[in-house]
Amino acid sequence: MSTQRRHLLELAPLSAHEITELLDLAESFQDISQRRIKKVPALRGMTVVLLFLEASTRTRTSFELAAKRLSADTLSIAGGTSSVVKGETLLDTARNLAAMSPDIIVLRHKHSGAPHLLARSLDASIVNAGDGGHEHPTQGLLDALTIRQHKKRIAGLKVAIIGDIAHSRVARSGIAALSKLGADVWVCGPPTMMPPGVESLGCRATFDRTTAVRNADVVMMLRIQKERMTEELFPSDREYSQRYGLDSGVLALARPDALVMHPGPINRGVELAPEVADGPASIILDQVANGIAVRMAVLYHCAGGGGGEA
Ligand code: CP
Repeated sequence: MSTQRRHLLELAPLSAHEITELLDLAESFQDISQRRIKKVPALRGMTVVLLFLEASTRTRTSFELAAKRLSADTLSIAGGTSSVVKGETLLDTARNLAAMSPDIIVLRHKHSGAPHLLARSLDASIVNAGDGGHEHPTQGLLDALTIRQHKKRIAGLKVAIIGDIAHSRVARSGIAALSKLGADVWVCGPPTMMPPGVESLGCRATFDRTTAVRNADVVMMLRIQKERMTEELFPSDREYSQRYGLDSGVLALARPDALVMHPGPINRGVELAPEVADGPASIILDQVANGIAVRMAVLYHCAGGGGGEA
């Protein structure tokens, strides 16, 4: 992480202490969203650019709300309506935006490493809002915060992450955060969706859904990312659902108080049955709500507030 500008590019290099500090900071921001006037002056006079060159609903809107609730000015740029469609490169786009003196640029991009390129090239703090199949650090933080709030701890919990592990930046950031905080993280998916050597990230791996879900405290389902696949990796949605989906019958293998999570968007009826997505174990909308507090914490931290570096 930069010593001059604070960035948040990935969770893998962060310590458990640094992650816990960000979660604690996020928790301290949570009550602002419950007030009638949902605004504090923490980032007044600062400018946050939201450069989303890949589709997003939750991440983009919650970063915008987070910045606005901290009183920052925001500029929102989407790929389809920017000069990227005329062929302008990412670096040229970002350099032109940087010429307008933003303090923080939040980037979502389809290529792994794109935020690192900006962090090396620009005089602004860079926050990774999801880069290809690499990392989605604020999702990892909001997932950890949501588990911590529901279970009052993370250490010792069995967390099963199931689905398209190979293409999932959510899985990578989740493994990084949760394993450092002491969870027993399992990943599970078809062999074609399991990256070789995934255990080196700090998790256990299985192709067997029952092994992953049995006695789990948390079952986190992942979206199948067809847009990142260059070939068919499973025969049909129906077969995938039968072997790797989560319905109430499979969920019954987990602990009785198990939580169900999903980063969204959900392929309903494929990775997650509607009765589970909308059932009493689901904390999916709590994840979304916590996204605002986590992103407030990250923006505040990158703007120079809070202690230590992330
Ligand atoms: N979880 C997540 O990244 O959702 P969006 O793609 O809608 O931002």
